Amino acid sequence: MSDLSFEARLKREATAIEACLRDILAPEAQNDEIVRPAALLEAMRHGVLNGGKRLRPFLVMESAAFAEGDREAALRVGAALECVHCYSLIHDDLPAMDDDDLRRGQPTVHIAYGEANAILAGDSLLTLAFDIIAAPETKLPDAAKTALILALARASGIGGMAGGQALDLAAEVSPPDEAGIVTLQAMKTGALIRFACEAGAIIAGSSAEKRQLLRRYGEKIGLAFQLADDLLDLTADAATMGKATGKDKERGKGTLVGLNGMDWAEQTLTRLVAEAGALVAPYGQKADVLIEAARFVARRTH
Ligand code: IPE
Ligand code: IPE
Ligand code: MG
Ligand code: MG
Ligand code: MG
Repeated sequence: MSDLSFEARLKREATAIEACLRDILAPEAQNDEIVRPAALLEAMRHGVLNGGKRLRPFLVMESAAFAEGDREAALRVGAALECVHCYSLIHDDLPAMDDDDLRRGQPTVHIAYGEANAILAGDSLLTLAFDIIAAPETKLPDAAKTALILALARASGIGGMAGGQALDLAAEVSPPDEAGIVTLQAMKTGALIRFACEAGAIIAGSSAEKRQLLRRYGEKIGLAFQLADDLLDLTADAATMGKATGKDKERGKGTLVGLNGMDWAEQTLTRLVAEAGALVAPYGQKADVLIEAARFVARRTH
């Protein structure tokens, strides 16, 4: 693969992303900002700089490496995506949604800073994501930036993550069938993960074929990611996960594990890892990290 083990590589990139996010969330107002209110900034920093796995930015960086795109640009795009992800978690945990008190082993943003700050921290992080991509510090051609902004918007909004969250909440009231669950999961979790993988091709200015390949790889691992999340909700404890577990059943969430059982879920994970790996395997050694990443997503322990 490379001179580093997969875990060491994930850690190295997570550290780089963390440093980039820390810079972006500095107290100084940027050009054309007026001031950065301290309490809101603190809430944002609490929601972002609190030890996530940084899997989505890692996938941006590794898909970019696979497609031979620029590492610094991938780092910025990864940071932007992590801002959208952290916003989605802050809002997901709100009392009106999953009503959770613990995230990444710490009090959720609304517990620590109040609901209004949690809502505004989410709003500000979502906006900041598009700022990061558009800003001159992200050194990419304008056409690539526009494509990234469009793809991230589509992955995040009504037809992507936010829409999926709406379907997820509706499913607590009226249980969907299997196809309905697949759709809601592809939206609430899958869309951002698919974007992470497709972003590498956009950053690199790859052919439509390679972009499509990375997109399909992203779809497979996105599905695997949520399946693993649903399994871990059943099998892991809160101390390991850094968030409450056993919640899906309690809230009557529609999950594929609930519908088809744990054995089916394990088999499906194995199949998805194999299918994702097979998509990129023809590229030889260059695909090694993405093959490992598919396995990591499915077999993660937290
Ligand atoms: C948790 O995502 C939310 C889901 C989409 C299931 P992660 O498991 O990637 O959370 P962090 O970022 O590592 O905390
Ligand atoms: C969250 O799904 C998906 C998003 C935040 C978009 P979950 O509600 O299952 O995530 P956790 O289990 O709280 O991390
Ligand atoms: Mg939720
Ligand atoms: Mg939740
Ligand atoms: Mg969950």
